[in-house]
Amino acid sequence: MADVWRKALPSDDLERGKLAKAFVAGQAVLLARLEDGTVAASSPLCPHERADLSQGSVYMGAVDCPLHHYLYDLRTGQNRYPRNVFPADLAEKLGDLPLYRVKEEEGWIWVAVDEHEA
Ligand code: FES
Repeated sequence: MADVWRKALPSDDLERGKLAKAFVAGQAVLLARLEDGTVAASSPLCPHERADLSQGSVYMGAVDCPLHHYLYDLRTGQNRYPRNVFPADLAEKLGDLPLYRVKEEEGWIWVAVDEHEA
């Protein structure tokens, strides 16, 4: 199944260290400008209890959920906290954050979505 690139947000509308929620082909997408200036895109729903991650904050390449402060790495989607402090059997059960492919071109942030959703 091929992905289709869609415009999500003008690049100038997302400052370094900030989050935004955009709607791409009817899907809500979390956009993040990391501290190094690169952009990441993911589901906006926290895998823990589905809080809106766009109300959280960017922290060292991760998104910090506003509800219980779980941290998800925005480059891998992997839970970083509390995975790093949980016993191994509990850490395995922590869900990862689904990511989207993302790029910046022509002054826009583009997100790749499934062609059936586009
Ligand atoms: S809902 Fe995000 S950490 Fe609990």
